[in-house]
Amino acid sequence: MAGNRTFTMIKPDAVRKNAIGPILAMINNAGFRIVAMKYTRLTAEQAGAFYEVHKERPFYGELVEFMSSGPIVAAILEKDNAVADFRTLIGSTNPAEAAEGTVRKLYASSIGENAVHGSDADETAKNEGDFFFSNLERF
Ligand code: RTP
Ligand code: MG
Repeated sequence: MAGNRTFTMIKPDAVRKNAIGPILAMINNAGFRIVAMKYTRLTAEQAGAFYEVHKERPFYGELVEFMSSGPIVAAILEKDNAVADFRTLIGSTNPAEAAEGTVRKLYASSIGENAVHGSDADETAKNEGDFFFSNLERF
């Protein structure tokens, strides 16, 4: 059975566009419940650790620099089939390929600066939530 939680970040580009409110509204309107949420900023070291799976990729340095360039909103979200349904809501990594009405179609600037993160599997969702939140911060 698919898990019922995923993890997201509203990335620095979307925060700079004042899109926190509209993106949270899209998340709630799509039926996700907020389990945990914080407004924070990653150091380059923390961003590098979060995206360690991509460390051999050519875009890793740029990704770490971008993700530590300003504040983000991190959240754990709950819904049936959370990981897959959230990736449908946000759309393709490259906004040029993202479906109409998706978060990335509306708010992403480029493949690198693409407004939101969404976990890619139940196990990564758990690990990513644990990276940001203690058990006392989940409701
Ligand atoms: P995310 O992990 O952020 O939800 O995005 P994703 O699964 O759709 O994409 P992934 O392949 O995991 O890539 C992670 C993030 O790296 C940046 N990226 N830049 N310049 C590039 O070609 C490139 N490719 C990926 C994006 O910020 C992407 O979301
Ligand atoms: Mg990913």
